[in-house]
Amino acid sequence: MVQTPTLPIAMDTTTTHTTDAPDLQSIVILDFGSQYSELIARRIRETQVYSEVLPYRTTAAELRDRAPKGIILSGGPNSVYDDNAPQCDPEIWNLDIPVLGVCYGMQLMVKQLGGEVERAKLAEYGKAALHIDDPTDLLTNVAEGSTMWMSHGDSVTRMPDGFVRLAHTDNTPDATIADHARKLYGVQYHPEVVHSEDGQALICNFVYHICRCEPTWTTEAFVDRAIADIRQQVGDKRVLLALSGGVDSSTLAFLLHKAIGDKLTCMFIDQGFMRKYEPERLVKLFKDEFAIPVEYVQARDRFIDKVAGVTDPEEKRRLIGHEFIRVFEEESTRLGPFDYLAQGTLYPDVIESANTNVDPKTGERVAVKIKSHHNVGGLPKDLQFKLVEPLRKLFKDEVRKVGRSIGLPEEIVNRHPFPGPGLAIRIIGEVTAERLNILRDADLIVRQEINRQGLYHQVWQAFAVLLPIRSVGVMGDQRTYAHPIILRLVQSEDGMTADWARLPYEFLEIVSNRIVNEVKGVNRVALDITSKPPGTIEWE
Ligand code: XMP
Repeated sequence: MVQTPTLPIAMDTTTTHTTDAPDLQSIVILDFGSQYSELIARRIRETQVYSEVLPYRTTAAELRDRAPKGIILSGGPNSVYDDNAPQCDPEIWNLDIPVLGVCYGMQLMVKQLGGEVERAKLAEYGKAALHIDDPTDLLTNVAEGSTMWMSHGDSVTRMPDGFVRLAHTDNTPDATIADHARKLYGVQYHPEVVHSEDGQALICNFVYHICRCEPTWTTEAFVDRAIADIRQQVGDKRVLLALSGGVDSSTLAFLLHKAIGDKLTCMFIDQGFMRKYEPERLVKLFKDEFAIPVEYVQARDRFIDKVAGVTDPEEKRRLIGHEFIRVFEEESTRLGPFDYLAQGTLYPDVIESANTNVDPKTGERVAVKIKSHHNVGGLPKDLQFKLVEPLRKLFKDEVRKVGRSIGLPEEIVNRHPFPGPGLAIRIIGEVTAERLNILRDADLIVRQEINRQGLYHQVWQAFAVLLPIRSVGVMGDQRTYAHPIILRLVQSEDGMTADWARLPYEFLEIVSNRIVNEVKGVNRVALDITSKPPGTIEWE
């Protein structure tokens, strides 16, 4: 398992237009379409060195300007011999910056430097034992026979001049190679995945011994730098922030409040689709406990009127998203003028907008839309604000660390994700005031029991879904004809994939009993046992 050191985070912040400070040490990952590129960045940040993912087309000149301490070429779905195989700028080899090629990245390095890569006799997928030929340098602290995760069809058959073998596996003679003089390294496996036992040791060797980095990516340094940068960027201008109560917008509010005090205005739009007691709780927390004023906008009727009679999920999402923007514009005019809008953009959004999936045939990037996600950050680009985005370089777990370090309570730091359109997408079909009340009450019971039984941290999300159909039941000798509630309890790392949570029967039993007994309008409770994929976490 990869160990997570205590405080992995960073120096620089982030606005759309400031450049990285010269003292920010970084390792750049050139992304050739591997599903693991982002993971490599996370692993490097865990060593307390900043890392960012850039498109594979980034030129050597651009890299020279950024002056990273090291470059990693990621894996990718292509073979280096494909017609459209993505290439890196060959000038990269002359930058005098250490390079580590991973899988496809290694094969590309070999081919561009005059070696040979061929389709392997045996493709290798899964675990392989690494036999060490040179235990120093990149492989310091990597044990002989250590398991590494392989996933390749091509193999290096002749190393370029100047390279030597550092390790092999039973099927792959050149599994780790190096040109020590030029500080060029290649690994045929994926050190970044958890199945690679000593993968993190290898990554640390590259970062510290080969690239000579120092541990500058720490939470404290990030916060100091972010505050200084916010002050420099916005001066004494006014900033507007749309608060949702989630960890991102709350951390943003804390950070901005620390930086610019009452020049910040937090606005919370209550669209009427929040969980029971949440709007009141949020406003009270911010006003009374954090002393950060919040403009509370009560817009419940507008939203419910908008979605009246609408049953199509995408149409619901679209209408709610539009109405949100309209309310936001009206209210910001009323409270304004503002010069800046604070957005909780995170690093994965930044990578995804630059790089989406790679089509393995053409090497071009493509994206497939499953749902139109909407959240308070989902405002249109043409609003008349300049943006301040201090979380732009952070992964979600890093935002949590920052939030915690500047005083955000655990209640918010560890809050489960909640979708922008809220309960409206957990009522299947038409949303009515009556259905909202039923769902709110059922959802509250799920949350109460999850907390009471100490299961909150075992699940990624736990909530109720209301179906528009009705079924027959019997209560106190009377026939009932009422709605079913579906329990959706999932475990996940990042929301991209998920599995249904195997919670104790006792929990399910209590929740089911309480919902049917306490929530008028419900006479049946069912459990959703679908993973994602093929299901999604939310029902709409
Ligand atoms: P799905 O349903 O796509 O959800 O499997 C994945 C994760 O995203 C959350 N989600 C949203 N979050 N705005 C958000 O901010 C949205 O419109 C939205 N829709 C889904 C969902 O709760 C889960 O954590």
